[in-house]
Amino acid sequence: MCGIIGYTGDRQAQGIILAGLKRLEYRGYDSAGIAIVDENLEMFKDKGEIGHLEESMPGIKGNFGIGHTRWATHGKPMKNNSHPMTDCKNEIALVHNGIIENYMTLKEELMKRGHVFRSETDTEVAVHLLEEFYDGDLESAVLKTVTKLKGSYAISVIHKKEKGKVVCARMISPLVLGIGKGENFIASDVPAILEYTDRMIYLLDGEIATITKNNVKIQDLEGNEVKREWEIVDMSLEGAEKGGYEHFMLKEIFEQPKVIQDTIIGTSLSSENGYSIGFKPDTIKIIACGTSYHAGYVGKHMFEEIAKTPTTVELASEYRFSSATTSQPLIIGITQSGETTDTLSAIRTAKKRGHDTLSIVNIVGSTMTREADETFYTRAGLEVGVAATKTYITQLIAIASLAIKMGVTKGRLGIDRARLLENQMRSLPKHVRSILSNAAEIKELAESISDVNSMFFLGRNINYPVALEGALKMKEISYIHAEGYPGGELKHGPLALVTSETPVIAIAVRDQTYEKMLGNIGEVSARDAKVIGIGTEGDRELEKYVDHTIFVPEVPHLFTPVLTSVVLQLLAYYAANARGCEIDKPRHLASALQWNDYIN
Ligand code: G6P
Repeated sequence: MCGIIGYTGDRQAQGIILAGLKRLEYRGYDSAGIAIVDENLEMFKDKGEIGHLEESMPGIKGNFGIGHTRWATHGKPMKNNSHPMTDCKNEIALVHNGIIENYMTLKEELMKRGHVFRSETDTEVAVHLLEEFYDGDLESAVLKTVTKLKGSYAISVIHKKEKGKVVCARMISPLVLGIGKGENFIASDVPAILEYTDRMIYLLDGEIATITKNNVKIQDLEGNEVKREWEIVDMSLEGAEKGGYEHFMLKEIFEQPKVIQDTIIGTSLSSENGYSIGFKPDTIKIIACGTSYHAGYVGKHMFEEIAKTPTTVELASEYRFSSATTSQPLIIGITQSGETTDTLSAIRTAKKRGHDTLSIVNIVGSTMTREADETFYTRAGLEVGVAATKTYITQLIAIASLAIKMGVTKGRLGIDRARLLENQMRSLPKHVRSILSNAAEIKELAESISDVNSMFFLGRNINYPVALEGALKMKEISYIHAEGYPGGELKHGPLALVTSETPVIAIAVRDQTYEKMLGNIGEVSARDAKVIGIGTEGDRELEKYVDHTIFVPEVPHLFTPVLTSVVLQLLAYYAANARGCEIDKPRHLASALQWNDYIN
C-alpha cells in the first residue's frame, strides 16, 4: 500500500505535495519522492520517511507535480526503487500504487527493445511503456499503457512538455480527485487533500482522469468520456485518515478483501513464477509469536493436507530451549513486522543448527528478510492497529500459496488440484465482503456479551487455532478473559469454569469436526452457557443446538479459517468498543513495528 498525490493550479506544488504525503504516511513510509515541472522535470526522492525527504530536498519551483510515499512490495526500500520513476529521456514521471502482476514479461519485452531499467520494481515497466506510446498526447499514452497492465494499479503521471496536466488511472488501488477552485488534486485517499477541498470524485476501476487547473476529464478504457459529479466529503481530517471508520482496527478489518486479493496476486500463483520453489523439505517446523503463531498453526494443516509434508508449530520464544533433533525440518519463521525479537533469535538459532530457513513477512527489507534464506511476502500494507487483523489474514493466504507451490514442487499435488485450490482462493475476497456486510448483526451479538468477565472459544482440527486467535483478539482489545480450547479438551478441566456467565463461541462449520463439535456444544449448554455457533451458511441443524448463529459462506475446509477469523475479529472489536476500550493501542501491548526496540 503506497500513497499518491498530484496537484495542478497556481500555487507552488512542492508544499502541497509534501503536506499531502505526510497525511498519507499511514499508508506506508519506507521511501518517498516528488516530481514537479517548471521549465524542466525536477525530481527528488529518497529512502526514509517524508520528514527526511522534506529536510533534505531543495526548493523546487513549479505549479504542477506528483508525489509518492512508498510501502515496498517489489524491490527493497532504497533510492532507486523509490517513486517517481522516469523514462529513459527523463521527460515523464510516474508514481504507482498496487502490484503489476505481469511486469516480468513486460520488462523482458521492453529490455529487448532497448529500455534500460534502473530499479527492481514492478512499477518501472509502466513508465517505459508510456515512453513508447507517447506521441504528443499523454492521455492516450496512459490509456494504451494501462491496457497492457495486469494486476492492480493507481498511477499518476506528468510530462515535461504538457504543462499543467496530471493524468491518473485506477484499477483496484484507490484514487480520488479533489475539485478545487482554479486548482485540482489527485490522491490515494481523502486526507491528503481535504485541507484544500471537500469536493471529491472517487475514481472507479478502469477510469482514467486528466486534471488541469480549471478542468477535470474522466474517460473509460475505450477512451469514451465519462460524466461524473463531485460529492461533498463530510469528514474531519482525523476521521478521514481512518477512512471514516472509528478505529484503524475496524478500517483494517474492512480492508481484508482487498489485501487478500493483493496477496494472491503478489504470491503470483500461476503466472510469472510458476509453481516451483527452492525447497522440497521432508518436514517443516513453523516458529512465530502471537497472532503469527496462530496463522502458523492453521498453516500446519495446510502444509500437511496440501503439500503432504508433516509440520510442527512452536512458539518462537520456546524454540531456543528445544533440543536439536536428528531430523532437519525446513524452519519457517512467520512475523508480520519482521522485527519481533523472539522470532528473529529463533531463526538465528535454527541457522546455527544448520536448518534451511524461510520467512513469511509483511515488511519488505525488515530484519527477518535479511536473516532468513528466503522470504515469502504478504501484501497487507501497513497495519496501524496493534491487534493484528489484515496481516494475519494475508499470512493465511501466503501460507496456502506456499503450500500449493510446495505440493507441486514435491510432486505431491497435481496441477489440476493446484489450479482448483487457486480458484477457490480467488473467491475468498467475495466471501469476506459478504461477512463484512453482516457486521451489524455481529455487532449486536458482541454487545450482548460485552459485560461478561470470561468466555471460551472452541474449535477442532484446523478450527482450533482459529479459536485461539479469536480468544487472543478478544482478550487483547476488550480485556475480557478469553480462552481458546480444542472442543474435546474442555471436559478435561476447563468445563469446571463454564456457567451461565461464560459465553462460549463455537466454530461448528460443516467439516469433519462438525458432529464432534455439536457434542461439545451440548456439554457447555448443559452447564447453562450461552452458545454462539459459527456455522456454514444454510445449516439449519446448528440453530437447534446454539443460542445464536453467525453463518459464513461454504468454502473448502482449508479456507474456512479465513472466513471464521473475520467473524471473530468483528466480535472482539465490537465487544471492546462497547466496553469503551482503547482499541488501536491496547494497554501494555505494541507491535514490534511500532516499538523497534521492544524486548520480549
Ligand atoms: C506483538 C503483537 C501481536 C503480534 C506479535 C507478533 O506481541 O502485540 O499482535 O501477533 O507481536 O508480531 P509479528 O510482527 O512477529 O507478527
